[in-house]
This record gives sequence, structure tokens and C-alpha cells, in this order.
Amino acid sequence: MRVIKCKNYDEVSEAAARIVAAQVTMKPDCILGLPTGSTPLGMYSRLIQMNKENKLDFSKIKTFNLDEYFPISKDNNQSYHYFMFENFFNHININKENVNIPNGETDNPEGECVRYEEAIGAAGGIDLQVLGIGQNGHIGFNEPDDYLESATHITSLTQNTIEANSRFFDSMDDVPKKALTTGMGTILKSRKIIILASGKVKAEAVRSLLSGKITTQNPSTMLNLHSDVTLIADEDALS
Ligand code: F6R
Repeated sequence: MRVIKCKNYDEVSEAAARIVAAQVTMKPDCILGLPTGSTPLGMYSRLIQMNKENKLDFSKIKTFNLDEYFPISKDNNQSYHYFMFENFFNHININKENVNIPNGETDNPEGECVRYEEAIGAAGGIDLQVLGIGQNGHIGFNEPDDYLESATHITSLTQNTIEANSRFFDSMDDVPKKALTTGMGTILKSRKIIILASGKVKAEAVRSLLSGKITTQNPSTMLNLHSDVTLIADEDALS
């Protein structure tokens, strides 16, 4: 695993934006795998800036988001659908038909997971997957467990994640308890992966990721099985 050591969050955002920009420049019709959360916000705002300055063209890219709460409506301002349009897609020249996010409104979540997994395959697979990392080492909503799922699936959030995500909701009770998420296999099939980590709260998960040992109790450690992963982390996350 390559490690890009950054001083702070701004440097993490800058390094991540540069890698995404290079990917889109090299392959204008590439497939990007994208995360939500606080960590990628700085990266998204830099990519928006580059697009506004006509330095980067998103008109041919396709995107697949990692996950979505379930059940949740698209116009709920806590849905990942809302988050992605608000923080990225509404501000760049992406063709909205090329945006893919698991449908948290479906009444057939299992069928939606099969459809989503197939759609990624039909598009040709993900060229560059951008990831954040949970305090407990989750990636997407693949939470620590004895067994992890390979394909896109419906899952229950752990108490740790419900608490971490409650900062965005009025109360802990309002946090949806389930999610639709791409699986470990979906993520590992990506041709290239970057994982972003910032802050002391991520230090323990990052320490375990960098130990090189693989455990389902820290799903991010499975990235050690992939041949093209870059961790972009600041001093606090590496502390
Ligand atoms: C979000 C996702 C999650 C986050 C993780 C870190 O789509 O897949 O795994 O990347 O929870 O979230 P932040 O960046 O808010 O610390």
C-alpha cells in the first residue's frame, strides 16, 4: 500500500483531488466510485473549482456511490443522494443520467442490490474508487463482523456508526438503522483505490490498516489484498 503523508486535512483534500483529476484527464469516460461523509468534502470542493475554471471536464464520467441509508427518500436532506447532489453533482458538468446511487426508496432492497451490482459490472467496473474510513475501520457500510459480504447487500449499522453519524441528525433515533452498500468484493474489484483519513479519531483504524494484517473486525484491512491502493492520511490519522 502506498501512503501519502499529509500535514493536515487540506493537504489530504488536495492530494485526493489531484489523483481524481489525473484519472479523469487520462480517461475522460472513466467510472468513479464515490463516498459521502465529512472527509471527501474538501476534495469535492477542489474538483468543483477545477471544473469551474475549465480545467477538468466531467461530461463523460460515470459515477457509482458506495452506499445509501435504507429506507430513506432521495429528497431527505440526510440521504446520501441529497448529499452528493448538494456537495458535488449540482456544481459540475456531469450528465445526471451517469450518476448511480443505491435507491434507498425501493420496496425491494434485495433486488435493488442485485441490480446495482450488475450495473457496475455492465458499466465496465470501477476505474478509481475513493473511500473514507470509519472509526471502527468500516468502508462503505461494511461494518466489522465475523463474516463480510462480497457483493452489494443490505446491512445493519453498528451502534458505533449510528453514534458517529448521529451528528448529522436531530437525534440518534432519527439515524436509519440499515443501509444498502457495495460489498468488499465490489470494492476490491476496482482497478485503483484511494482511501482518505483525517483526524485522531481515525488513528486506531489506520494503525490496524497499516499493520498489514487482515481481519474482518476491521474491514479496511482487506485493502491489503489489492495491488493498487493509496492511503492519503494526515499526521493525526497517522499518529
Ligand atoms: C460513506 C461511507 C463511509 C464513510 C466513513 C467515514 O459513503 O462509505 O464508510 O467513508 O464513515 O466518514 P467520515 O468521512 O464522515 O468520517
